[in-house]
Amino acid sequence: MTITAGHAADASAEPTYPMPRGCPFDPPAELAQLRAEKPISRVRIWDGSSPWLVTRYDDVRSLLADRRVSSDAYRPGYPAQSPGILARRRNSTSFITMDDPEHARYRKMVISDFTVRRTESLRPLITKIVDDLLDEMERGPRPTDLVEAFALPLPSMVICQMLGVPYKDHDFFQMHSRAILDITMDPAETVRASDELRDYLTGLMAEKEAEPTDDILGRLAQRYVLTGELSRDDAVSMALLLLVAGHETTANMIGFGTLTLLQNPEQAAEVRDGDPAVVNRAVEELLRLLTVVHTGRRRVALDDIEIGGVTIRAGEGIIAATESANRDAAAFPAPDELDIHRESNHHLAFGFGVHQCLGQPLARLELQIAYPALLRRFPELRVAVPVDDIRYRDKMVVYGVQALPVSW
Ligand code: HEM
Repeated sequence: MTITAGHAADASAEPTYPMPRGCPFDPPAELAQLRAEKPISRVRIWDGSSPWLVTRYDDVRSLLADRRVSSDAYRPGYPAQSPGILARRRNSTSFITMDDPEHARYRKMVISDFTVRRTESLRPLITKIVDDLLDEMERGPRPTDLVEAFALPLPSMVICQMLGVPYKDHDFFQMHSRAILDITMDPAETVRASDELRDYLTGLMAEKEAEPTDDILGRLAQRYVLTGELSRDDAVSMALLLLVAGHETTANMIGFGTLTLLQNPEQAAEVRDGDPAVVNRAVEELLRLLTVVHTGRRRVALDDIEIGGVTIRAGEGIIAATESANRDAAAFPAPDELDIHRESNHHLAFGFGVHQCLGQPLARLELQIAYPALLRRFPELRVAVPVDDIRYRDKMVVYGVQALPVSW
């Protein structure tokens, strides 16, 4: 049977999205129910609209690869994550919310900096940063917050080095990134945070236009801004995307991933042993299980799309719930369990299709170095508070722990 829009008919019966979590380690139980009973169904979001929520692995993957869907946040029907994010996206548009050919044109300007090969050349730098942070942690007080001491500084230092952003300004950009990613933030505040970050990056780009530097922003300035191929404003939007995406996501995978490993001590012990094949699989499994970018990929249909017995009409919003797809038993046996030996782990934690994460080789490398190094340095690492006292980032686009007090 094909169900068509029937939009506002019984809107009150539609579940609201995102739903609150029950267990902090798992996506909301309602998603599992929808996956089983009504895998493509309408949900109600903050602005009162009713986009389609897609919850099964095969459907999510096929929609994210479908050229008949758009990521353009300006299109009517686009299901924005929050009023603040909508307002900000529209005043600072970067290629994550553009369609091809524009999307491809911008992405191409930075793609060579994020290839597997280029990223691999950063291994010594990342290892050194990890070792230095762990040295400092070892010398510091116990307990300590793992997020502040390790999870957040590591990816921040790496992306700063790559972009050519001074790490000394980390308090400023981390605070502003947090404001930008908070879905409960007043829109005026989100836009203010975004504008302040833009002003800061505009100053930096101007310096790099005047004096060449051998880093991503320096190359953007010299190769594209000064040649007129890219406006300084667009370069700033790109810099903001890379800076925010480059540290918040990986930081939360390190913090939340470490907590998950500590809850599974036998698997943590295998990661500590450091066999690269085991570590690599463990990283993929944590990415799948935790899916920290957890409030669905937002799209709008450009054409009528028949999928799973439903017709999504042109102009209707789509939320491709990767956090649900990654727990679909049809794709991953025993999906709610951590199994670091899981084979053929084609998870969607980095998205899928043309917008699939640009920084995934970098995120993988950082995680592959960080988890075993941390567990080896502190074989007795443990959570220093009752696990029930841990606070989670429920209101953030990127989920994780707010803090993780640890001792050893
Ligand atoms: C574990 C860490 C990370 C996770 C889970 C993650 C997740 C994601 C996801 C789900 C998307 C897809 C967005 C969509 O389809 O709408 C994405 C896109 C993107 N990510 Fe990541 N990311 C991570 C790390 C990074 C890093 C380190 C960078 C480095 C700068 C980065 C840069 C980007 C960029 C630029 C895009 C936009 C790609 C495009 O639109 O073509 N990410 N990421």
